[in-house]
Amino acid sequence: MIALGSDHAGYPLKMEIIKHLEERGLEYKDYGCYDEGSCDYPVYSKAAANAVASGECDKGILICGTGIGISIVANKIKGIRAALCTDCFTAEATRLHNDANMLALGARVVGGGLALKIVDTFLDTEFSNDERHIKRINQIEN
Ligand code: RB5
Repeated sequence: MIALGSDHAGYPLKMEIIKHLEERGLEYKDYGCYDEGSCDYPVYSKAAANAVASGECDKGILICGTGIGISIVANKIKGIRAALCTDCFTAEATRLHNDANMLALGARVVGGGLALKIVDTFLDTEFSNDERHIKRINQIEN
């Protein structure tokens, strides 16, 4: 189950991502917002991140204008490793090296086509399980 969260700036891209996840047959839960009315990204980031931290969802995707605010909030929640990605290389690397459990996107930064490629790369790349990376992730958590 994939947790989704956005603010108003990220809402249109979130709807594109939802369509894409449905086409791929992937399950998701949308923690808001639910329209383009101005709102506060901390509210929706926290809701989606809590769902991932609690194990209710396996991974999450967060979208705001830049991806910055929404990732800052998520990374304050214990157990969350949210990675702001603007390209497929970092989306792959953050899964391999950081075992990132949330992807953050900036709807005012990346176009829809690239965003969907980043989403696919993030969701389809498994953690490397490399000892060096496990050690560093444990250091983050502790
Ligand atoms: C909203 O205008 C904008 O500040 C927000 O989407 C995000 O970019 C914050 O980091």
